[in-house]
Amino acid sequence: MSACTIRITVNGTAYERSVEPRLLLSDFLRGTLGLTGTHVGCEHGVCGACTVLVDGDSVRACLLFAVQLDGCTVETVESLGLPGKLNPLQEAFREHHALQCGFCTPGMLMTAIDLLRKYPLASDDDIRAGLSGNLCRCTGYEHIVAAIRAVVKETP
Ligand code: FES
Ligand code: FES
Repeated sequence: MSACTIRITVNGTAYERSVEPRLLLSDFLRGTLGLTGTHVGCEHGVCGACTVLVDGDSVRACLLFAVQLDGCTVETVESLGLPGKLNPLQEAFREHHALQCGFCTPGMLMTAIDLLRKYPLASDDDIRAGLSGNLCRCTGYEHIVAAIRAVVKETP
């Protein structure tokens, strides 16, 4: 099948690219746009490492084709902050030791951003339920929950 042209906004920048219909969103972000902050783990929708926001909702970038995103707005972990200018959630992850190897971290951050925007997260159980689709092999999750809780408390 021949390539298709898509128009897509990623982290505030508009792109027009020709893509093969089989190209995954995760490969489009990493390979075509060079946004390697989005990690790829299981590649079949289980681990959550590839989580990005599409039109404000968290999705698995490994389960979507780039052509499906024509006209959409995508936010990746690169939209959050920069070294030396972290956003509050990244800062909380740093302060609460919410990462070790860091492989799950981009997906954790983007899932948490979605949760923080949409839900009051009144309890730790709410945070845990919201994170239940993201796997971490290192931290035991306690520090990740603590980091998100800290941001909830700081948000008026
Ligand atoms: S790489 Fe997409 S869910 Fe694991
Ligand atoms: S910090 Fe290593 S997988 Fe989560």
